[in-house]
Amino acid sequence: MSGKNKSKVTISEILGKKRNMEKITMLTSYDYSISRICNETNLDIVLIGDSAATVMLGYDSTRKIGMTEMLTFCKGVANAITRPLIVADMPFGSYQTGLTIAIKNALKFLRCGCDAVKLEGGTEIVDIIKKLTAIGVPVMGHIGLQPQTTPLYHGYSSQGKTAEDALKLIGEARALEEAGVFSIVLEKVTNEVSSIIAQSVKVPIIGIGCGPNVDGQVLVIHDMLGLYKDMEPKFVKRYLDLSGQIFDAIKEYENEVKSGKFPQEEHTYHMNEEEFAKLEEMLKRV
Ligand code: KIV
Repeated sequence: MSGKNKSKVTISEILGKKRNMEKITMLTSYDYSISRICNETNLDIVLIGDSAATVMLGYDSTRKIGMTEMLTFCKGVANAITRPLIVADMPFGSYQTGLTIAIKNALKFLRCGCDAVKLEGGTEIVDIIKKLTAIGVPVMGHIGLQPQTTPLYHGYSSQGKTAEDALKLIGEARALEEAGVFSIVLEKVTNEVSSIIAQSVKVPIIGIGCGPNVDGQVLVIHDMLGLYKDMEPKFVKRYLDLSGQIFDAIKEYENEVKSGKFPQEEHTYHMNEEEFAKLEEMLKRV
């Protein structure tokens, strides 16, 4: 059965998948047309990631995207999705300045059709997570490499390479679970530490660049489709070379327009003969 005929994925189904040892599948999406395709698959979660900053807007950092831009992408996705859970990234600065503003901004995502929000951060944001979950806003955590802040301090290197670093990450995952998150994205963490984290908490750990021993996987859709090539991390598998296919199609279009091969009769509209004869008569008179 195609995904679009199935009922909406719930948070308890996501939690149940970890208990039943079924892998959770998640991809990013930022617009209506691609989300329509996602909706027809059996993906569990669609994430409007703040990676939209780089792949959709060409910024050099996810720190540069704001609420207005994120909400525009969310509207396109929410208009297409009926089945997968829709999670939206809260952009940098939209939840760190106080509980009231964090709640106000989180509610804007729910009002435009998202089911949950994702926040980057560890122990320093547990109060915000507790408040959001207490008032009924489902929250997904995000630890390990946090693109909004980590690159400034440590670049894009993998996390969890020392015992101290590993203990810190395990502590953060437990603190987020205690604060009420329903799942945690773990980014670019060594396989050894990722496995321990997945075994240390009951909520699903959804990995990106964390190896296979976690509860689910997420990728940026532009990376796995081969549409964004400014960065090519080792953890990405390319399932398609969409950039190459789009380039070839545009070149073919260009050549056909120049040579007169496009448009053909089947792409062309006509007046009926009687009306055309009438027009010719009228033109003679003017
Ligand atoms: O912004 C994003 O796309 C993300 C994923 C990489 C998990 O946070």
